[in-house]
Amino acid sequence: MSSPAPPAPRRVLGVGIATLDIVNEVAAYPEEDEEVRALAQHRGLGGNVANSLDVLRQLGHRCAWCGTLADDPDSREVVAGLRDRGIDTACACRHPGARTPTSYVTLSRQTGSRTIVHHRDLRELEAADFRRARLEGLDWVHFEGRNPAETAAMLRDCAARRPDLPVSVEIEKPRPGVHALLAGPRVVILSRVFALAAGCQDPRAFLADQWGRTSAELLFLPWGAEGAYAQSRDGGPVFAPAHAPEALRDTLGAGDVFNAAVIDGLLAGLTLSALLARANRLAGHKCGQLGLQGVAASARAAGLL
Ligand code: FRU
Repeated sequence: MSSPAPPAPRRVLGVGIATLDIVNEVAAYPEEDEEVRALAQHRGLGGNVANSLDVLRQLGHRCAWCGTLADDPDSREVVAGLRDRGIDTACACRHPGARTPTSYVTLSRQTGSRTIVHHRDLRELEAADFRRARLEGLDWVHFEGRNPAETAAMLRDCAARRPDLPVSVEIEKPRPGVHALLAGPRVVILSRVFALAAGCQDPRAFLADQWGRTSAELLFLPWGAEGAYAQSRDGGPVFAPAHAPEALRDTLGAGDVFNAAVIDGLLAGLTLSALLARANRLAGHKCGQLGLQGVAASARAAGLL
């Protein structure tokens, strides 16, 4: 019997940041004012949307990135990182004289936790920049919930130009005005940080409470090492427990992997509970390896996809 053909690749546009991540692996997270030596150092592409596109590409989709770039030497590393991963950068918007957003990451070998100090001196993408993005032929657009007023205008632009195009938004941080991004997208991926900042005591009740504020059809709420919640407008809450890797190595970007798996699962038409469990498996599997390279292939080989 022949195995079923893999699903056709779809075209996904990701709108958000691409950063340079400099990751120092340390034996254990240092005390304030301590001096420690890194056991290893890695540098390369990072940023929520860039990471999600990296994984969507590994899952077989055609991916393009829309965001801002500086023109310093680090920006060449970011562009090379995107291109090496097969992500189209034609929609990038350059800002001469600006500096590449950089994340200095301390990765503890003891716990696998990542502590990020992020520096940015680069303009955010604006609605006028996004108007130049081609939306024809796309199957999905995913936005990072930053620069809320401009991103809300991009959502309206998307709806005007391609009313049929499914749109997801990740609302990770409780930024002023970010609630504006609950109107428009079909899918909203909230975060635990966002929920807790809003006074959430029970993730299921928090999700139920969002329906009056959003036009979305589907809400997701990843909940760290416990698992993730999701709900559709006409269904009850769904929970899937987290998938723990054999050894916890690196949690950097696990949320971005989860987002990629959610988009992939929705494009494949999986049920909510199946795609949530699968997204947890891929995100959990990622925490057992350093970085994102080859994460989809190794998850597949382990029977997790
Ligand atoms: C991980 C990450 C890093 C990046 C930072 C930006 O989720 O995307 O790659 O430097 O977050 O906030």
